[in-house]
Amino acid sequence: MNYEEARKKMSDIGQEHVFRFFDELSDAQKRSLIQQIAETDFSVLRRINHGAGDGRGVFAPLDAMQRSEIEARERELHDIGVKTIKEGKTAALLLAGGMGTRLGSDDPKGMYDIGLTKPVYIFERIISNLLDVVRETDTWIRLFIMTSEKNHDKTAAFLKEHDYFGYREDRIVFFRQDMAPACDFNGRLYMEAKDRISTSPNGNAGWYSSMCRAGLDKILDDEGIEWIDIFAVDNVLQRICDPCFVGATVLAGVSVGAKVVRKAAPDEKVGVMCLEDGRPSIVEYYELSDEMMNAKDKNGEPAYNYGVILNYLFRTSELAGVADDKMPLHVVRKKIPYIDESGTLIKPAEPNGFKFEQLVLDMIHQLSSCLPYEVIREKEFAPIKNPTGIDSVESARELLKKNGVEL
Ligand code: UTP
Repeated sequence: MNYEEARKKMSDIGQEHVFRFFDELSDAQKRSLIQQIAETDFSVLRRINHGAGDGRGVFAPLDAMQRSEIEARERELHDIGVKTIKEGKTAALLLAGGMGTRLGSDDPKGMYDIGLTKPVYIFERIISNLLDVVRETDTWIRLFIMTSEKNHDKTAAFLKEHDYFGYREDRIVFFRQDMAPACDFNGRLYMEAKDRISTSPNGNAGWYSSMCRAGLDKILDDEGIEWIDIFAVDNVLQRICDPCFVGATVLAGVSVGAKVVRKAAPDEKVGVMCLEDGRPSIVEYYELSDEMMNAKDKNGEPAYNYGVILNYLFRTSELAGVADDKMPLHVVRKKIPYIDESGTLIKPAEPNGFKFEQLVLDMIHQLSSCLPYEVIREKEFAPIKNPTGIDSVESARELLKKNGVEL
């Protein structure tokens, strides 16, 4: 794309202001901005006045495998899981491309130190949990780590500096997720530098297409990886590739297993697993009608009772059928750093615009079957989203201590 074409592309969508500082730029910077314009899909900007989806389908309950069944079948599930892992059929994928804006640190979230008497980094906790399974199964599980262009260098350098917290370097593969443009509440693009339009990672559903673009689906094929456990960076208690979960998902013969926690109350504000038009899906708390909230399953328990915790075990052979363009685009209010009229970088304290994301939970709906697998909230769910309050460093510390983790 040349300068005239870039200019036309931007003026056609009313965003010519991205050239405001063009005359001040060096030749290399000019080329870089033109290249960014050529590579970026700006069609997302048209979505700021639309909802995420095109209306919802017909909801029905989806039974979860509950703790009572898991405990009764523990040996059987565990043995199948261990066998699957030992055969090298299971990989793990850490979603670490997010910006962690609510936590408010400039570093990648995984670098956050949650220790009290000694450093305990979020990455360290996550890797330590995976190492438990490595030791138990005597198998170095392939670990993929998704970063973004915003945090890749810091993440990779930090993990290397800490010797990957004991993980084998040759079993880790990094890749970067794709980016989407970010704009103010009126749809006007922000600039993050004089030669760069503001961008944000395009959401955690980007993992599969970004992985394929990096050519890493070949590793899945070459190594015969049949299952991949996708998990968030910020739940410091979660078990990753734990044998019972793997075994239960394999035995159920489903497309995906999803770790879920029992709702604390019928009106708790969490999305819950269900069927939508016969396919697995997640119904948001504000979409639950009174009738659904009061519906009971065969044991007399609430029929819509299990919230997802962003830990899914996908059957890899079904991923090729998941299409990005069939997933809703979520328009999210975020704090977006930008340069002002004078070129000074501003880091807003409050959300100042929209970014565009596709979410991993929307991948579920494109698959034919799902096993919701119950885990105990106090033992496996300690997300760190905020510095204090709900889902925070403070609440996670309390839960870690209750689970015997020294901080
Ligand atoms: P969150 O939804 O909590 O988003 O991500 P975030 O960007 O980390 O944090 P906030 O909202 O700005 O405070 C849940 C998980 O998905 C990953 C995150 O790294 C985290 O593990 N994620 C999120 C990505 O990998 N890419 C994205 O584009 C968004």
